[in-house]
Amino acid sequence: MRIDILTIFPEFFSVLDVSLVGKARQSGLIDLRVHNLRDHTHDRHNTVDDTPYGGGAGMVMKPEPWGEALDEIIGEVAGGAAGDQAGTDAGPVLIFPSPAGELFTQKMARSLAEEPNLVFGCGRYEGIDQRVFDHYAATGRVRLISLGDYVLNGGEVAVMAMIEAIGRLIPGVVGNPESLVEESHEDGLLEYPSYTKPSSWRGHDVPPVLLSGNHGAIAAWRREQQLARTRQVRPDLLPPANSEE
Ligand code: ADE
Repeated sequence: MRIDILTIFPEFFSVLDVSLVGKARQSGLIDLRVHNLRDHTHDRHNTVDDTPYGGGAGMVMKPEPWGEALDEIIGEVAGGAAGDQAGTDAGPVLIFPSPAGELFTQKMARSLAEEPNLVFGCGRYEGIDQRVFDHYAATGRVRLISLGDYVLNGGEVAVMAMIEAIGRLIPGVVGNPESLVEESHEDGLLEYPSYTKPSSWRGHDVPPVLLSGNHGAIAAWRREQQLARTRQVRPDLLPPANSEE
């Protein structure tokens, strides 16, 4: 998968050199390129923002640098697409993190992990001029995605979270694919609690069923734990039939 990131803070993304995503980059599973939006400005001050039409607090990111940068990336991605994909490739998905976007979920991460090209645009200030979204949505796929109901200073941290969630679902990135199956949210429930040695620690014992060797009983216990946890802290995740005692 090729991932492009547009930001005024490229240095934020140096952490993507480490851990699983870093390894995936080294092995070529993820081709990640970070671009500085200011490279697409043409004034002495490298201006990327201006005051909002209609008044109000804060600054809005100007459309021109975004247009120039996105045209360049989209053109490059299209040029690099394999010949046999040329007719079917719908172009990259443009993703703009925003508290005004649809909520990011595991299901969304799974579907984005199947895309060959993702482009992330990190907004700052009060956001990006709306015409940037409208322009690219007219000819391609644009998604505004929120990490949750809170406000970050900009899209960078949200993009890092999304890349980690998506990246680990790309085949080959996580060494043991089975470890992806039993995680929180993969089956719509929170995951069951995990234990390792020693079997007793500071007076807390591992639940005896996990030491029993009875795989059926262990699976049943884990399922109960998943349901109990989900019912307690995230009842909104349960299908209606399971949400009542
Ligand atoms: N940018 C600012 N706040 C955000 C949020 N909650 N999710 C995604 N991007 C954001």
